[in-house]
Amino acid sequence: MKRVLMTGATGFVGSFLAAALMERGHKLVLLSRRSRNKSARQRVDEVLGCVTRGVNRFKGQYIVVEGDVTREHLALGSDAGDLGKIDAVFHLAAALDFLQTNKENVFHTNIVGTRNALDLCTAWRINEFHHVSTLFVAGDREGTIMEGDLDCGQSFMNPYEESKLNGEKLVREWARRDPRNSHRIYRLPVVCGDSITGKTIAFNGLYGFCAPFWVVKQQIIRRMKKNGHDLDGSGITLGPDGTLHIPLTVQISSDSSLDMIPVDWVVRNIVHLFESEGSKGLTFHFAHAVPPKATDIIRMCFSAMGITGIDVVDKWPDGRASEHAHTALRSVQRSVGSLIGRFTGYMKNHKSFDTTNMRAMMGDSFNPPPRIDRALVDRLMRFAMENNFRNVS
Ligand SMILES: NC(=O)c1ccc[n+]([C@@H]2O[C@H](COP(=O)([O-])OP(=O)(O)OC[C@H]3O[C@@H](n4cnc5c(N)ncnc54)[C@H](OP(=O)(O)O)[C@@H]3O)[C@@H](O)[C@H]2O)c1
Repeated sequence: MKRVLMTGATGFVGSFLAAALMERGHKLVLLSRRSRNKSARQRVDEVLGCVTRGVNRFKGQYIVVEGDVTREHLALGSDAGDLGKIDAVFHLAAALDFLQTNKENVFHTNIVGTRNALDLCTAWRINEFHHVSTLFVAGDREGTIMEGDLDCGQSFMNPYEESKLNGEKLVREWARRDPRNSHRIYRLPVVCGDSITGKTIAFNGLYGFCAPFWVVKQQIIRRMKKNGHDLDGSGITLGPDGTLHIPLTVQISSDSSLDMIPVDWVVRNIVHLFESEGSKGLTFHFAHAVPPKATDIIRMCFSAMGITGIDVVDKWPDGRASEHAHTALRSVQRSVGSLIGRFTGYMKNHKSFDTTNMRAMMGDSFNPPPRIDRALVDRLMRFAMENNFRNVS
């Protein structure tokens, strides 16, 4: 059993991973920030309470330290002091922000933050570094992306992708600097909630795409109940079962795919690789052999949310005006257009991710990621709707 310092434990993947590592008997030192009204400890307890039943059984298996990855030695000091011996660091803390305008903060958190975590390892004599990254360090490359590939001159859709590539470079440099150092890099796809319970603590990624439609549905239903005459002639109808028909058009190329995998599969495989000696120095792609079609996932999401009438088209039909004829739907149609623009970059079909390392290391334990089918999407969306797409913490 190992004693692990983890960053990012209040985050989506980190909280599920912390629970999975403790389930296996590992001991954790969880680095967290405080918020305005909650201590670091309260925040960690809250998210762990959400992702696992009976968090009390882990009492004594984790401690929480307050820190910040943007500060030298994560603000923990240049030696471990009372924290005692740490065997490995799991680095997940990151800013998952795609906006160009937030580039400075994203670079600071994801690049400087990674450097600070590596410097802490050097100062505290920790030789094992586990780095959680993204498939999208591949940027705009096409074709087959190998797990060993890194900087191949690619361009990026946003500063986040570029920052994660630079973070990976620092990890590899650190590992080269001292033969005692070893690293693993886990490149994740778009991660969604638990495949069995639908649970998540953060509603970004696919949820970020679906949430605005869910909000619009609630707004329209409220408006219809109040008077609704301003919607006459818009083609919007509310069925007796609560299904709302909204005549909108969404343009997504029919050959787009969305590499999306439930969080339980992701953390189960990370834990297995973490515990495998042979995984040292390797990078692992977490990807479907054949990723699901983006249009299929989107259609299943609309259906699970009780929304019909949305036409998912390959290309804008000739002769159909992109401006909606009815005033009530014009602004909705426009915001749908800009929403799609933010997501289509992640729905491209021109690259595939090789998983040789992953398959070799998992051996007989390798199970392909669960199929993204209607039953799974229903579970994910049910949990999201019950929680109004509202993040924990
Ligand atoms: N979720 C995905 O679909 C996905 C896909 C590919 C890769 N990944 C990678 O997986 C990792 C975890 O992602 P996630 O989805 O769990 O992200 P998340 O839910 O946004 O969580 C981010 C975590 O980083 C922490 N953090 C941010 N800035 C920090 C700072 N300055 N000091 C200390 N902690 C800080 C956050 O703490 P606070 O709670 O205090 O903000 C939070 O715990 C990231 O490295 C990400 O790049 C995620």
